[in-house]
Amino acid sequence: MTEHPIKALVSLDNGIDEATVRAALPQDAAIQAVGFIRGVEESWATLAETPTDLLIIACSGYSERALSLIGGTAREHPDLPIVVLSQSSPDGFLGRLFEMGADDFVRLPESPERVSFTLQKVVARRRAAGAVGGSGTGSMICVLGPKGGTGKTTTTANLSAALAAAGKSVVAVDLDVQFGDLALCMGVRPDTTMYDLANSPGSLDAEKLESYLVPHESGARVFVAPTRPDQARFITVELLREVFSILRQTNDFVVVDTSPGFSPEVIAAIDAASDICMLGMLDTLSLKNTRLGLETLDLMGYPSERTVLVLNRADSKVGISNEDVTRIIGRKLEIRVPSSVEITRSVNDGKPIVLARPKSHAAQSFRQLAELFMARVERSGVPAIEEKPEPKPARLQLLARRT
Ligand SMILES: Nc1ncnc2c1ncn2[C@@H]1O[C@H](COP(=O)(O)OP(=O)(O)OP(=O)(O)O)[C@@H](O)[C@H]1O
Ligand SMILES: [Mg+2]
Repeated sequence: MTEHPIKALVSLDNGIDEATVRAALPQDAAIQAVGFIRGVEESWATLAETPTDLLIIACSGYSERALSLIGGTAREHPDLPIVVLSQSSPDGFLGRLFEMGADDFVRLPESPERVSFTLQKVVARRRAAGAVGGSGTGSMICVLGPKGGTGKTTTTANLSAALAAAGKSVVAVDLDVQFGDLALCMGVRPDTTMYDLANSPGSLDAEKLESYLVPHESGARVFVAPTRPDQARFITVELLREVFSILRQTNDFVVVDTSPGFSPEVIAAIDAASDICMLGMLDTLSLKNTRLGLETLDLMGYPSERTVLVLNRADSKVGISNEDVTRIIGRKLEIRVPSSVEITRSVNDGKPIVLARPKSHAAQSFRQLAELFMARVERSGVPAIEEKPEPKPARLQLLARRT
């Protein structure tokens, strides 16, 4: 699994004997114990001097010393993965371990094979997270359209499928948590939804999250919205933040479909996003709302060069010229998606048009949109979430009410 053995330093807390821990540790070539240290202070000194890929902390049960070693290590050596082996897990201990920064937990006794698997998984996950992109994260594109029915879901489905068809790892997220229909639009069965994840026991990691994603024929995976509106209240902003962070670390692209307006979930998605895809349609009301949406993003401190403006049903004969569009919205359009009965049909059939009719004009527009986002990553990388300036809350609330 790994080219070089993983160098693990083992810190033994008072109350656990070395023989018990040695018996649980794998004897295979993948893991090499570089030292067994008794006590927190000694572990500190050794950590500073010894090249180490992994810290294993072994204890018999609840231990403040173990917690403080985890906290200190997570601060001083943020890249070092930490696994805790413990003979018991009294109430609250597990939660505290993960809060302090532990990566995983194994309850002893456990077979060396299982322990080996956990240790290798933790190290591999950290290495993978460190290897993606310049900032260690993939792109997250939030598809917005302040007015209902502008084509957000259709665009999310096609953009995701086009990116996946280009060989990227992609997750499409349905953030219309009450009335989401992305699964329907992409033709996947909602076997597992975000409601199931929200109600699952234990902490969240990349592997667990992956098991709640539904595969799509394009190669993308879909994180499906709850199937009933009353389940939406279980999808908290805290859960979503964690999900976005994990998905960005483990994928090239995360594409998020949203509900109309600036709900707390949508604001959390904008905060976590690297790019925005703003949709407008060719009527004055929709264009006015699109402009208000762009102004809201501006007030949230979102850099306008990270926003792509897409006009859907762009060839409708409604007496509004290109110049009118630029004047009302206040900026240039990047992509136009034509109005096409084939799009309506593909949505009804649950097959994105980029797969159903790849040569159609509409499919070409969605591929153009995907290429634009891929070119951005190649040109300037992916901005980290923290690079965005602070929002301007009071004015933001004012505008969010108006849109
Ligand atoms: N370019 C297009 N040509 C023809 N039909 C389209 C086009 N774009 C979207 N549609 C149709 O318009 C309807 C609304 O599209 P969609 O569901 O993607 O919008 P939405 O913004 O997600 O809506 P909501 O705000 O309700 O979630 C769908 O039935 C879809 O088939
Ligand atoms: Mg929708």
